[in-house]
Amino acid sequence: MPESITITDNRNGESIEIPIVDGGVSAAEWAKLIPGIWFYDPGFMTTAVTESSISYVDGDAGILRYRGYPIEQLAEHSSYLEVAYLLIHGELPTPAQLEGWIHEITYHTFIHENVRKRFLEGFHYDAHPMGLLVSAVAALSTFYPEAKDIFDPDIRYKQVIRLIAKMPTLAAAAHRFSVGMPFVYPDNSLSFPANFLSMMWKTAEPRFDANPALAHAVDVLWILHAEHEQNCSTTAMRVVGSAHADPYSSCAAATAALYGPLHGGANEACIRMLMEIGSMENVPSFVQAVKEGKGRLQGFGHRVYKSYDPRAKIVRALAEDVFAVTGKNPLLDIALKLEEVALADDYFVSRKLYPNVDFFTGLIYQAMGFPMEMFTVLFAIPRTSGWLAHWTEMLDQDSKLARPRQIYTGHAERDYVAVGER
Ligand code: CMC
Repeated sequence: MPESITITDNRNGESIEIPIVDGGVSAAEWAKLIPGIWFYDPGFMTTAVTESSISYVDGDAGILRYRGYPIEQLAEHSSYLEVAYLLIHGELPTPAQLEGWIHEITYHTFIHENVRKRFLEGFHYDAHPMGLLVSAVAALSTFYPEAKDIFDPDIRYKQVIRLIAKMPTLAAAAHRFSVGMPFVYPDNSLSFPANFLSMMWKTAEPRFDANPALAHAVDVLWILHAEHEQNCSTTAMRVVGSAHADPYSSCAAATAALYGPLHGGANEACIRMLMEIGSMENVPSFVQAVKEGKGRLQGFGHRVYKSYDPRAKIVRALAEDVFAVTGKNPLLDIALKLEEVALADDYFVSRKLYPNVDFFTGLIYQAMGFPMEMFTVLFAIPRTSGWLAHWTEMLDQDSKLARPRQIYTGHAERDYVAVGER
């Protein structure tokens, strides 16, 4: 059977045969037959915008791989920084490469004093940390003006290091500012996640040593959140990057996309939902209300996964390790009941709605003491490496300026009417 599609323009009987390559067909080939007729695809539901070799998702089978490596193996054996290297470089590092990479990242964690003192402190005291983060990432472009030179390999690489390194520092600074605590400088003697926890929680002690189980949990969650192919924020990164904006401006756009509750904001929305439900007895009536169209189950459903999100399985198990240290999050029982009720209900089963990664991450972060406003920030830190991997890949491809078409449904031409005559 030929691996191709034939389409016929019924207006004139002309046909064109287009090969199916890697599970896709070229829209440019279709356009040769039907110039001026656009593919109508809101939300890019059926459009592949690029070729990519960074991650592979099979939504029906619940598979996620970074550069070919199953997410389960990376979560068990790797570290976030090693995964970031893998995403950016395409291969796992040798011991010497890993050491060099960790050294580079560690020595770029400081942020310019003006970012903190003048820029961040200019915000209102109750500013949402994601709002601060979006703005601070954009502001970094003014501190590194050479970043505009995106086709110089050394300059480009330097910004990749800076962005991955500085995100935890900016994130922790945003938190400290919002609670009126003094800024904590990075401690280069600590691991990447332990340093973040130090910048978050250190008070008067000379050195903050995070509980190893909690630092490990953060590391695993960052591995799981590092990359997820053409998600909304990565698409924002690619769209803005396609205009050859500097990486800080592109990353700020991606961070802004992540802020939305349908995307990275879902972990915060999920905890708020569990608090609103309040007790296990209220679960059935809440689920009934969702079925009647009164809101959605936060942390449920996914554009790509039509089975259990493989990341959610890992997070569910990780939660046990964290709760062994912190004590159980009282919302866990409500979450488990909600999962049980939903997974036994035809509404959710028929729509293939399963828990996604955000269903359990908020429970862990809350048990560790992170305020809800920080949950999406905790997602942005590791996703930065995925964004940058896509940005780099896109610039190395023969990429075009992202500029979709539209189906115009407005008025036909009409004459202007002076204001007094309307
Ligand atoms: N609760 C209840 N019903 C839902 C949900 C939900 N969470 N998600 C989808 N549905 C229903 C929806 O009402 C629709 O029903 P019908 O066919 O009767 O109209 C059907 O399922 C298909 O929904 P859709 O909106 O067409 O699906 P989508 O692919 O556009 O939505 C989603 C994907 C993630 C936006 C959606 O599932 C959702 O809003 N989930 C809650 C928010 C959330 O958890 N987001 C985090 C996603 S994972 C992390 C990330 O990648 O950022």
